[in-house]
Amino acid sequence: RKDGYKHFMLKEIFEQPRVVKDCLAGRVDWQKQEAVLPELSAMPVPKRLHIVACGTSFNAGMWAQHLFESWAHIPVSVEIASEFRYRDVILNEGDVVLVISQSGETADTLAALRIAKEQGVPVVGLCNVIGSSIARESDVTVYTQAGPEISVASTKAMCSQMAVLLLMGLAWADRKGLLDDVLRREIFGGLRKLPDLLEAELPRIREEAKRLAREYSTAQSFFFLGRGVGYPLAMEGALKLKEISYIHAEGYAAGEMKHGPIALIDPKFPTFAIALNDKFFAKVKSNLEEVQARAGDVIALTNPNSDLSVKHKWVLPDCVYPLSSFLVLPALQLFSYESADYLGKDVDQPRNLAKSVTVE
Ligand code: F6R
Repeated sequence: RKDGYKHFMLKEIFEQPRVVKDCLAGRVDWQKQEAVLPELSAMPVPKRLHIVACGTSFNAGMWAQHLFESWAHIPVSVEIASEFRYRDVILNEGDVVLVISQSGETADTLAALRIAKEQGVPVVGLCNVIGSSIARESDVTVYTQAGPEISVASTKAMCSQMAVLLLMGLAWADRKGLLDDVLRREIFGGLRKLPDLLEAELPRIREEAKRLAREYSTAQSFFFLGRGVGYPLAMEGALKLKEISYIHAEGYAAGEMKHGPIALIDPKFPTFAIALNDKFFAKVKSNLEEVQARAGDVIALTNPNSDLSVKHKWVLPDCVYPLSSFLVLPALQLFSYESADYLGKDVDQPRNLAKSVTVE
């Protein structure tokens, strides 16, 4: 049921405040400010983590890499499953393979899981669908608890994956004694307020998405740029725009632009940037100045008072790093949604795509 929403995708985007709440329920001890993931407590903290996934789930893995590295000091590689499975990946004792899959049925991701198991490396599966193949075959299964995702384009699933991955990072950091009090207070304080903040902001985000989608409806191509956790979000923004509106879009690490892609910039090739007030801001800003110097139009997701001069400043409320990503994600999703809807595309059933990719 669409519950009055025009499409399942829209309904699922608006479910995200509840999804975050459900992900945290029972998994956070608010008194002690601790992440509680009993599924993981029986296994040692990974010495090295190999994250393997496809599509949107891969982007969630790329996002989490930053947190595992900086909070828990775990070396992390993130791999597309269809590549991982055909490489001679070196897996060592103490390594853990973390497969991420909404459906739990993606053929390449399942094959990667089986390779890891054959080599005796423990597999953690992060899945949404209970009893799915990946959920059954993983040594440890952690559920995202996002509820059924009907729309082909994955939205709330990524939000739930990010929420659980963030808790994993906190739990592993804590077990290694690496979580300092300031970070603990900041993150748990922010997490507690996140569902309400998201709920309050979503209608405003949608209005801005609708306005910009109309203004840019004739664009043939888009760059999506970001750095740090903004890079996988940019990749996700580009993926969503491609898959449902059929507008060509490329997600890039902002620092890579000058190594070739910037040659494409002209007044008809807009750039969508993630330029939040975090440690990456100054660098993203200078990359955007380079785009503007080539007469490129820029839309930038940013925060109040950010020192940024671009054609469209899309201001999101201040929010602690990396929780700000939970506001960026629906902004990107809604921009794609409103573009596709305005262009009359079949939002929930985009051409050429299936909800779960059970063949390689
Ligand atoms: C994008 C999308 C796909 C899936 C990918 C992996 O909106 O839906 O890119 O994310 O096929 O699917 P799961 O997570 O089910 O393994």
